[in-house]
This record gives sequence, C-alpha cells and structure tokens, in this order.
Amino acid sequence: MAEATFTFPPDFRWGTATSAHQVEGNNTQNDWWAWEQEGQRLGDGRVFANQVSGLACNWWENAEADIAQMAKMGLNAHRMSVEWSRIEPTPAFWDEDAIDRYRQILGAMRDAGIEPMVTLHHFTNPQWMAGQGGWANAESVTWFARYVRKVVDSLSDLVDLWCTVNEPGILAEMGYYRGIWPPCQKGLGLYFDVYLNLLRAHAAAYEAIHELQDGARVGLSKAMRGFKPRRPGSPVDRFVARTIDDAANGIFIRALMEGVWRPPGRRAQPLPELQRTLDWLGVSYYHRYESTLKLTHPGGMFMEYGVPTGVEIGPDTWGEIHPRGLYDLLAQLKRFELPLYVTENGRPDEVDEHRPRFIVEHLHHVWRAIIVGAPVMGYYFWSLVDNFEWARAYNPSFRFGLLEVDVESQARRLKTSGELYAEICKTGTLSSDMARRHAPDALASVFPGEAPVPLARAET
Ligand code: GAL
Repeated sequence: MAEATFTFPPDFRWGTATSAHQVEGNNTQNDWWAWEQEGQRLGDGRVFANQVSGLACNWWENAEADIAQMAKMGLNAHRMSVEWSRIEPTPAFWDEDAIDRYRQILGAMRDAGIEPMVTLHHFTNPQWMAGQGGWANAESVTWFARYVRKVVDSLSDLVDLWCTVNEPGILAEMGYYRGIWPPCQKGLGLYFDVYLNLLRAHAAAYEAIHELQDGARVGLSKAMRGFKPRRPGSPVDRFVARTIDDAANGIFIRALMEGVWRPPGRRAQPLPELQRTLDWLGVSYYHRYESTLKLTHPGGMFMEYGVPTGVEIGPDTWGEIHPRGLYDLLAQLKRFELPLYVTENGRPDEVDEHRPRFIVEHLHHVWRAIIVGAPVMGYYFWSLVDNFEWARAYNPSFRFGLLEVDVESQARRLKTSGELYAEICKTGTLSSDMARRHAPDALASVFPGEAPVPLARAET
C-alpha cells in the first residue's frame, strides 16, 4: 500500500447535516406528522412498520448535547434546518418561543465554534399550508417568502449561510409524482409544476434574504443522482437515461443558470427571475441508478429507473454506491464558477460495516476535485446522528449516523465511522494511516501501490 496524506484547504468546512423533522421530535404541526399518525391508525405500511417520528433525537429539548459532541469531534460546521410549522403554526402568526429556541441552538453552535448553515425548507410543511394544496398551489411561493423574511429578521445575527430549499426535485418526485410521501399525488405534469414552484420559492427567498441582510450567502441543496443506461450499447436505454437525467437535473441547471424552464418534451419558458439566484450551489450526493424503457409505465413517459446489478448497492431500493461519481460531478460543476458545498453525502448502514470505507473513498474524490480546481468549500456528512429517515422511519437498515442513537433511551455511541471522521476533521487531512486503523477495506481502492522497498535493501 502507498503511504499518503491528502491535505484539504485550511478554511475547509468540515460538517455534518441534519434536518428539523428528522431530529427534533414532536413536530406536531406539520404535514409529515399528520401523515405518520394517520398511517399508524390505519396500519397501512406507508411508513416502515407503521412507525411515527415521535421524539426522534430529541433535539428540541436537548440539541446542546449533540452540539457538544460535534465540537469534540472537531467539526467546524453543521447544516441544520428550521421548521416552518413551528415558526408559523397558523398563517402569519409567529411563535416567538420557537424562534427563541432556535436562537439558543444556533447560539450554542456559535459558542462551540461551529458555523451553522441553515436550511429554510427541508421537506415538511405547516399543516395549514399543506391543506391549501401545498407546493401545487402557486401561492406557496408568497407564503414561503413571508416566512423566510421572518426567519431572517429573527436569526440574521447568528446565521449568514442560508440554504433556501432542500432537494426540490426529490420533494416533487416523492410527494407529487410517485405519491409515496405526503401529499401522495401522482402526476408527471404535477411533478414539473411543483418543481418549478419550489425553484420560484427559492428565487423569492434569495431576493428577500439579500434585501434584509448584507453579506448573506444564499444557495440551495440539489440532489444530484446519476442515471446510467441499463444496457450502455442500447441507443434506447441511452436516450432514456439522458431524458431522466434531464427531468431530474437538467431542468434545474437550465432554470437557475440560464433562466429557462424547459421540462423534457415541452416548450421553453423564459424565467429571467430565476437566473443568478445562487451565491453557491449545494450538492447532495448518494448514489446512481440505471434506467430503461418500461412499456407498462405510461405515467412516466414509458421510462423508469431502478437499482443496477453487479455493483455495490445499498439496502432495498437504494442505488449504486459510486464514489467516483462525486469527483465527476464536482469537476463538471466547476464551469459555473460558483462556490460548491457537498451539502449531504452518506449511506445507509445498519452496523457501520461499510460507512468508514464510504467516507474515505468519497472524501478522496472530493480532494481530487479540489486539486483540479473545483471550488469545493465544505463537506457536510449525512448524518451526525441516526434519525427519522422519512418513510423508512427507524428501519435499522436505514441508519445514517456517525453517532448511534437509541430512540427509546436516547443514548448515544460514537461509531467507528465517527472516530474516523473526527480525525479527518481535526487534522483537515485524510491519510493512509487513518484508513489502516479505521477503514482497512479502503486501502486498496484509495491508497493502491506497492510498499516502498527500503533503500539499503534495494541496492543489494
Ligand atoms: C436526502 C434528504 C435527507 C436524508 C437523506 C438520506 O435526500 O435530504 O433528509 O433523508 O436523503 O436518505
């Protein structure tokens, strides 16, 4: 094995990521809460084992304990979200106590030397907003901007790094096209409408934040899944892969970089107000899929994607774990000349068997991207803690944390991957020595090569 140390820029942000509903507990006023409760009543399996988020990681009462742990691990950044339904439980009524609680949490991070990145929308909606059609209602843009103004007014002395919307395409897909998250609607047209409303909401938030706060840095987090053709030699599969990639990623890039809205197969619509509304771009990167024609799927233009075979994949329908794809992505995004953040990256892993290698392999590719000039400013590992994984709830196969959480007792335990990540964050480096101690199965892929022969012996 080669001995090597990869050194990251001195001001690199070493972080973790969480979202409000997944860690706070008792978020009783949002659409997910209501949907989980209904699922439990009906026992219809919409959520794994008919579970509910419940107390989650109890951050509403005790985020401070995990913040202390972040500091011990040497993190200098954390991405969290604020919960719209707590701050605005009924239209235009502001819950100042909830805002004060966020001030405490953010203050604790600041005191611990941890720079917060605050996401303003991470999948959940106030019930009053969902009741009026949610993101399918074009008014949602105005409602969101009103809420954003209030948040920025209240928190701008503690936060200047804002992430407006988390993964607009994923929310549109799961809630409005596949119909497996609330509000459980299914339409391709609806998917594109909701996607666009979320991008408009982002642009409105961008304007509002800059109006209210000098020096704010505003971006969003885009899920960048890869789609490869099932049979690379098939022109049909290649066309399908390109089209699905366009429907998930291409429309986003065109909208925010060129100010044009053009879903596949539809007429282009100029949207100049969307252009230049990013001070930075966040990418969340997990996996890739393979795609092919599916004649029994007219609702999806006869196209579908699924889990590839013969490669490393995650549990259930989780796609291919493809570390090199992170390098390709960051290197390609360089052309937009925007600061880049890896706003999420991680993998489901019940017993932390694969996660240490995952971290070494992916960070190696982040380092490679920086070396070729991609302006990657930080990396936020998903996630600090095992948490409520949406419709997979507390399914043990879908644990993502560096810290194990026992939801019953709320006990924490640092996993091997957590020890490894802490060393990386503390030193700002990734070394073969760290891999040897925490992720020996990553040595062959990241530090290949022959061991050097000692000189004296080489000469004889
Ligand atoms: C992302 C999402 C996170 C988390 C993660 C792991 O798409 O933003 O909330 O659930 O996936 O599945």
